[in-house]
Amino acid sequence: MMMMMMTGTETQNPGRRYRGLSLCLALLLFTGKQAFAETRYSVAEAVKDGSVVGNVAKDLGLEFTSLTDRRFRVVSENEKAFFDVNQDNGDLFVLQKIDREELCQGSGACLMELKIIVENPLEIHYVVVEVKDVNDHAPVFPEKEQRFEIFEQTSPGRRFQLHAARDPDAGSNSIRTYTLTSNEHFEIDVRQSDEDKIPFLVLKKSLDREQNNNHSLVVTAVDGGKPPKSGTLNVSVIVLDSNDNRPKFSQETYQIQIEENIPTGSSIFKAN
Ligand SMILES: *[C@@H]1O[C@H](CO)[C@@H](O)[C@H](O)[C@H]1NC(C)=O
Ligand SMILES: *[C@@H]1O[C@H](CO)[C@@H](O)[C@H](O)[C@H]1NC(C)=O
Repeated sequence: MMMMMMTGTETQNPGRRYRGLSLCLALLLFTGKQAFAETRYSVAEAVKDGSVVGNVAKDLGLEFTSLTDRRFRVVSENEKAFFDVNQDNGDLFVLQKIDREELCQGSGACLMELKIIVENPLEIHYVVVEVKDVNDHAPVFPEKEQRFEIFEQTSPGRRFQLHAARDPDAGSNSIRTYTLTSNEHFEIDVRQSDEDKIPFLVLKKSLDREQNNNHSLVVTAVDGGKPPKSGTLNVSVIVLDSNDNRPKFSQETYQIQIEENIPTGSSIFKAN
């Protein structure tokens, strides 16, 4: 098997340029092993099948006239082939709709390495296609409603953890912020924990059961897409009676006197 090395590749893709050469040289110097210039493309997820990613034959310096004879093709290692090449014009195109969230987890770059082969003589090239995220998911809460029971004496500043919404899209297309319907008693605070944002309902003004014993609020999770997508959570806060009738003794301290030798089991005092 003969491996061909590409030189000076700087693939031009609509709107994007990648410098494969410097990376290649760095790798070569670093490892001293055989390294390959990387031809790199990018395509948005969910584009329709047939969409052209780039002209791979031209970028690899292959003769268009011999592409069919040399069995120019993409060899897929997955069962599902997402890309193919056109033997007439050398285009690399999308074979079926790509779902980035299905292919890659998390927010990092979603890269697919494709093996492009021509025969007589055999050349194997690797090209990388970055699947760009599209804001195709809206934030979703695990439940539609959440209920809190809060005593009316609760002091401002108390925090109540809200359900966090999920949005599988990457980076800025994922959840950006949470908002709350404007009201005088509550505000929202978002705490960042690793990659997740955790929303809290924060009491900003004491509740008064006589004024309102049931507050209905709507929490909205908004992603950073253009345009943004959102999801909502209905929150109801039931205001509980404060314990102003809590049991109280008639006196703070009691003093009693008993005589010596009273029989055991005798009642000596009754507190109220
Ligand atoms: C509070 O209000 C919500 C929505 O308005 C309602 O579904 C719920 O039954 C009410 N709860 C009480 C205890 O009043
Ligand atoms: C959430 O509240 C809105 C009104 O604020 C209401 O129209 C909607 O039906 C509620 N959704 C659920 C799931 O209770």
